[in-house]
Amino acid sequence: MNTTAAANSSAFTRVLTGITTTGTPHLGNYVGAIRPAINASRDPQVQSYYFLADFHALIKCHEPQRVAESRREIAATWLALGLDTDHAIFYRQSDVPEIPELTWLLTCVAAKGLMNRAHAYKASVQENLDAGDRDPDAGINMGLYSYPILMAADILMFSQKQVAGQDFGLTRVPVGRDQIQHIEMARDIGQRFNHIFGEEFFALPEAVVDEQVAVLNGLDGRKMSKSYNNTIPLFEPEKKFRKLINKIKTNSLEPGEPKDTEDCTLFQIYTAFASAVEVAEMRERYAAGIGWGEMKGQLFEYLNEQLRTPREEYQRLLADPAYVEAVLHKGADKARAEATPFLDRLKVAVGLGRFI
Ligand code: TRP
Repeated sequence: MNTTAAANSSAFTRVLTGITTTGTPHLGNYVGAIRPAINASRDPQVQSYYFLADFHALIKCHEPQRVAESRREIAATWLALGLDTDHAIFYRQSDVPEIPELTWLLTCVAAKGLMNRAHAYKASVQENLDAGDRDPDAGINMGLYSYPILMAADILMFSQKQVAGQDFGLTRVPVGRDQIQHIEMARDIGQRFNHIFGEEFFALPEAVVDEQVAVLNGLDGRKMSKSYNNTIPLFEPEKKFRKLINKIKTNSLEPGEPKDTEDCTLFQIYTAFASAVEVAEMRERYAAGIGWGEMKGQLFEYLNEQLRTPREEYQRLLADPAYVEAVLHKGADKARAEATPFLDRLKVAVGLGRFI
């Protein structure tokens, strides 16, 4: 855990993160992002901002159904898992028009050279170059190219140093390793804006990468990720959930043969949910040669027990879009209460204030 932010003396800390709405939440998302975020939001000293990054979704997904469905699934998931939206600010990015406005102000100070260096863009260019005869920018839209600026706006919108006389200090952004560069870019862009317009509007945000948080493997043993198509959806109906657990790849050791817990996806997933005592017991059963079929049955029973209640709540929420809509509206209202006056200040700073 990065401790710089914790050392900050201000009374409140902001924690902010976005979830791109192109997929269905899976076990890896839950363990790696959702569970720690919901836990962090329970700290009374923390003001959390969690949002559906639906503008980001449009960069790589032009299937309206998929985006729309993913938004509903992600919102219902976070609520079913107990996110307290009276305390946390939970909103849809696209309900806060101040964010795209700020994106433009930032676009006009962001260095093009900085964007050229973004990993996601560079990887796409490299793919084209590797293919040989293509234009290096073939198939790359401007959304992908300027995506780090939109992400900077997401973060800097809620990085105002002081709100209503309350000192917040910097905003902490829990992310995976692959996103660190984007936070660095947000800092760079925020700093440039502060420098050019002569005031410390933005407290520079900080990435928080928690090494304790587990990264789960998927069905094929590679990292669980929708791009590998190896995920286990968190709230899959019971029967399908059991089937998926049974599909997790193992080696060919027979029951009775001692088994290694290292590099075992079944054990790894179990560990992410079980207590230390339960994990120690399971380790012994591995040494004693538990069969893979038995282990899969155990893992299914164990997870199913923990997921049953939130799964029911998830189904209930999916069937009640009006309720979820109202919750997100409440979140957007709270987000905009902060964003609107801040954006006004920034517009004045760049020369776009009212005449009188
Ligand atoms: N780009 C992030 C991802 O792909 C999602 C995201 C969008 C985000 N805006 C953000 C994360 C702001 C943190 C802060 O995971």
